Amino acid sequence: MCGIVGAVASRNVTGILVEGLMRLEYRGYDSAGVAVIDKDGALQIRKAVGKVKGLTDKLDSNPTQGFTGIAHTRWATHGKPTELNAHPHCSGDIAVVHNGIIENHGELREKLKAKGYEFVSETDTEVIAHLIHNLTSEGLSLIDALQAAVAQFDGAYALAVIDINRPNELVACRSGSPLVLGLGIEENFVASDQMALRQVTDRFVFLNEGDFVHLNDDKVAIYNIEGDLVDRDIHQLTDKAEVADKGQYRHYMLKEIFEQPTVLARTLQGRISKTKVLEAAFGADASGIFDKVEGVQIVACGTSYHAGLVAKYWMESIASIPCQVEVASEYRYRKVFVPKNTLFVTISQSGETADTLAALKEAKKSDYLASLVICNAPNSSLVRESDLVFMTQAGPEIGVASTKAFTTQLIALQLLTIALGRRHGLSADQEAKMVAALATVPDEVAKALTLDTEIKITSEKFADKKHALFLGRGVEYPVAMEGALKLKEISYIHAESYPAGELKHGPLALVDADMPIVAVAPNNELMEKLKSNLEEVQARGGKLFVFSDQASAFPSSDDVTVINVHSVPDTIAPMVYTIPLQLLSYHVAIVKGTDVDQPRNLAKSVTVE
Ligand code: G6P
Repeated sequence: MCGIVGAVASRNVTGILVEGLMRLEYRGYDSAGVAVIDKDGALQIRKAVGKVKGLTDKLDSNPTQGFTGIAHTRWATHGKPTELNAHPHCSGDIAVVHNGIIENHGELREKLKAKGYEFVSETDTEVIAHLIHNLTSEGLSLIDALQAAVAQFDGAYALAVIDINRPNELVACRSGSPLVLGLGIEENFVASDQMALRQVTDRFVFLNEGDFVHLNDDKVAIYNIEGDLVDRDIHQLTDKAEVADKGQYRHYMLKEIFEQPTVLARTLQGRISKTKVLEAAFGADASGIFDKVEGVQIVACGTSYHAGLVAKYWMESIASIPCQVEVASEYRYRKVFVPKNTLFVTISQSGETADTLAALKEAKKSDYLASLVICNAPNSSLVRESDLVFMTQAGPEIGVASTKAFTTQLIALQLLTIALGRRHGLSADQEAKMVAALATVPDEVAKALTLDTEIKITSEKFADKKHALFLGRGVEYPVAMEGALKLKEISYIHAESYPAGELKHGPLALVDADMPIVAVAPNNELMEKLKSNLEEVQARGGKLFVFSDQASAFPSSDDVTVINVHSVPDTIAPMVYTIPLQLLSYHVAIVKGTDVDQPRNLAKSVTVE
């Protein structure tokens, strides 16, 4: 999604800004731009549609130099990806970059037009530039103008603004979209993600909702939503900045798929003993809160939502407590009934997904017992706003299609299931058995990865396919949903998932030799039922691809490709069966020649509604 980088320094900032944009590339965008105030006090603007490389090419042939600047990667919401719509947007002496959406931009546009402002783009951002210009020309300082402008906005935004009349200043603010402040020596920065600035600093302030900042090269001032000067904690990040690096792999996605044994082990480390879940992993207050939990409401988006759906099966069958799961974009706009002592759980790789964050804010107004986030991004908004936090240890996930984040989320959710389950009848023996199985997940996942070559060969059978069906039963149904999502995200094959028993209520009408049907079939108590469902498919000439437990000896034939997965306990099957489905979508995308790491129209971190 959109990315912001801004800098005020005593050296040329163009390189810092562009490097920052490159570090944000993985988030998905369709155009990029930069504005710096040059030594003559003029705004130098360069923009390009497409990758940041297009912008660097322009800068190579037409360089800019300046000590103060802002830069942006845009993911189109209002208006097509064109140079005119790309940020920064200018009004006279002012340049602005913006993430988020100004919902009342139409009304503001009309008011500004009435004052004589001319609009050249279709974006909502241009109203910000003109409004701030209008306010500064009435005599307000840049920070006062920003505060006065923001007071007129409905929506969600992070903004950074520069003005050629104040060449050593940058002002910025956030409300509903992330923004961090990076502190250097005689230089200060803002960015939508700390990752953009790790090459220049490891000292960060994670701004609160509603905060404004006023930067010079040698000082920063932070104001809260009421306009009071405030102190915010400075975080010295000590983790090694894991720079986006594909290593030996052709794509980040493949690297991230193969990293799973390591990151799953890391996520379990310190969270289990030989026989028990160590619930301090959920926070110091977790035990007291867990004692009271009688139900769970999970809210998430995309892949994280699928992790939540898997957890529903676990919560109800293992922990014996009711569990509801809903996509955040629906939950946030619905009147909900909150049963007594319900724990509100959000799941998010990035911790910045706008809908999930908004759902948490809504939930805080209701009678939930407490909130817990399962998240992969330290210091993210969801982490800072939740009562309890479980950090997955997946490391930076760069591929837009989520892989290692999903399986580490499943680990977290199973630990939560056990922690709650032991208060609702899960015996110490059962817990010990589950914990022992969990400890084997990294190795079992590593074994599943050895199917890579076989799956690569199988993927060629999808080369000319336009549609695919994914089937599962029980807890494997959400695993099938995740498999279908992966395939559609990166190969652009239309893929749908169904609980296999639902086939005859509609999707069977679609089955013919051109429709690959992928079945997730571990050897569990639903295996026989699933086999009958698959026979219904075969009887109609469908081509089956079955990921099955080798022990169940699923028969292969001309129309049935069986990929044998080694036998694993039911409790960890969702983590293990996810792996071949990730590999399948990856290899199909390679056969199709699509952009695996940055699929069209998608963003890694969706910070707008
Ligand atoms: C986007 C990403 C998905 C991700 C979803 C939720 O759609 O492309 O990969 O699953 O957002 O993101 P989150 O960071 O909240 O898990």
